[in-house]
Amino acid sequence: MTGLSDAFNRPINYLRISVTDRCNLRCTYCLPAEGTRLLPHSEILTYEEIATIARLAAELGINKLRLTGGEPLVRAKLTELVAMLAEISTIDDISLTTNGILLKDYASELAQAGLKRVNISLDSLRRDKFERITRHRKLSEVLQGIEAAKACGLSPVKINMVVMRGINDDELVDFANLTIAEGWHVRFIELMPFATENPPEGHSTGGKTNLHPQFMPAQEITRHLSGLGTLEPCLPIAGNGPAKYFRFPHATGTIGFITPVSQHFCFNCNRLRLTAEGRLRPCLLSDEEVDLRQPLRDGAPPQELKQAITEAIRRKPGKHHLSEGATTQKRHMSQVGG
Ligand code: 5AD
Ligand code: SF4
Repeated sequence: MTGLSDAFNRPINYLRISVTDRCNLRCTYCLPAEGTRLLPHSEILTYEEIATIARLAAELGINKLRLTGGEPLVRAKLTELVAMLAEISTIDDISLTTNGILLKDYASELAQAGLKRVNISLDSLRRDKFERITRHRKLSEVLQGIEAAKACGLSPVKINMVVMRGINDDELVDFANLTIAEGWHVRFIELMPFATENPPEGHSTGGKTNLHPQFMPAQEITRHLSGLGTLEPCLPIAGNGPAKYFRFPHATGTIGFITPVSQHFCFNCNRLRLTAEGRLRPCLLSDEEVDLRQPLRDGAPPQELKQAITEAIRRKPGKHHLSEGATTQKRHMSQVGG
């Protein structure tokens, strides 16, 4: 095989790039209401720096990129970064994970610049509940964003719903129905415990974390959908991420399950993450990081930077330890990009 693989022989071909730690929402599971300490601009990689890292990673074998945040579309001129990344000839997929609020303004220019597809986070279809979860009244903007993405050919549009017991589990059937009625591709994501300064009740800190009190396992989610018919396994619609896909008979859309808690998918993990301030994180759920910004700003030669990338991959853990109660303590999800 050409390209990269880690100590466990997993091929690594996918880099998720967080372009900002800022966000225009405050989802309860991700950020405290008052937000979190934000990085000063000088600490955030410039687009040129991001493109340099992406080029070196591509030379090593990365061929898929995803832009994340925070909310990536709050960073000015994101289209320019997409265009720079699209020039890397061996990159064959550039995608974006967004909350969708600003997508109606940018979908068209992003598509023209070379963005292939988007994943949109949407946890409720009800105005009041959307506001309760995100602490903002922006549901209609997200729905317009979804339509804009489809109209611009940023497809398949995947909808990510983080399932929370007692919060949005009464909407599972509504989301699933949209795979039949509207051809939506919906992915149900198990709620992960994550470091927060204001942990919800029942959420311990100090290196060990209990399951989140609102956690609902995929098996139980499936039971909620049983009235809609038999879920048939199907192939992933695009990408080779961790979701397992199903569809209802006659549905044009699909249902995916992402099960970081009930059934880890680490054995298949093909990814590396770059934080907004230029640290490579081999695993979402471990605090291991390799700094690229300092060597980059010190003028390190390409070979040295490539070595740092390879080193991050070498340090990729075999699996995470959520089920034993261990999670990352250093960062909010908004600082890693999901
Ligand atoms: N558990 C599961 N998913 C999460 N996301 C953010 N925080 C969590 C969490 N604690 C999801 C967002 C988005 C993606 C980037 O990560 O909803 O879809
Ligand atoms: Fe923003 Fe995404 Fe975190 Fe919600 S989950 S606050 S949209 S970064």
